[in-house]
Amino acid sequence: QPTFRIAPSILSANFAKLGEEVQNVIAAGADIIHFDVMDNHYVPNLTIGPMICEAIRPCTDALIDVHLMVKPVDRIIPDFAKVGANIITFHPEASEHIDRSLGLIREQGCKAGLVFNPATPLHYLDHVMDKLDMILLMSVNPGFGGQKFIPGTLDKLREARRRIDEYTAKTGREIWLEIDGGVKVDNIAEIARAGADTFVAGSAIYNTPDYKATIDAMRAELAK
Ligand code: DX5
Ligand code: ZN
Repeated sequence: QPTFRIAPSILSANFAKLGEEVQNVIAAGADIIHFDVMDNHYVPNLTIGPMICEAIRPCTDALIDVHLMVKPVDRIIPDFAKVGANIITFHPEASEHIDRSLGLIREQGCKAGLVFNPATPLHYLDHVMDKLDMILLMSVNPGFGGQKFIPGTLDKLREARRRIDEYTAKTGREIWLEIDGGVKVDNIAEIARAGADTFVAGSAIYNTPDYKATIDAMRAELAK
């Protein structure tokens, strides 16, 4: 069995008690806090920035996975590194110099990743595998929680998995494959079979009354 990681997106949390919401999902068995940064420019929504990351950092030892949906990306990277982000991912279309942005994230001591929208081709991976710790495939168009999983993402996951396995066999270096958008208890097993190892879930966890029951149900599906 591969290692599976569950990453609740706090986008669907109750922001009036965000610290508790972070602690509650980790206590319920989640592995990573997924942190969605939207700028009302690269994506049509406006969410949270480094101040909020700083505010939740003392609430947990879990990894904070910052998903940047902003343009430009470079100048905000050090701000997130400074307040304790562990993983920083960005969309290749949002950076003028992808290799430089990835380097910047690593220089700041964070793990680096690229995010692919449903229609963004995987060829952006061609020359940067050595600089990646994570590949994130969007299974919805970015901007909002609570959208439906786009089924065509499964084929893309299989292709990304093939590229990662080939790379790992050659180099011995691991790259995480994360999926984001519309992940639920009833599709997580199929998504895992297509190759994902890290699962973002916002509404599927935070819109249920019992986080532990939901995360346990996800793990039970993953163990099938
Ligand atoms: C969408 C965000 C997602 C979102 C997922 O742009 O990147 O992380 O919060 O929400 P659900 O799991 O509800 O689709
Ligand atoms: Zn996200």
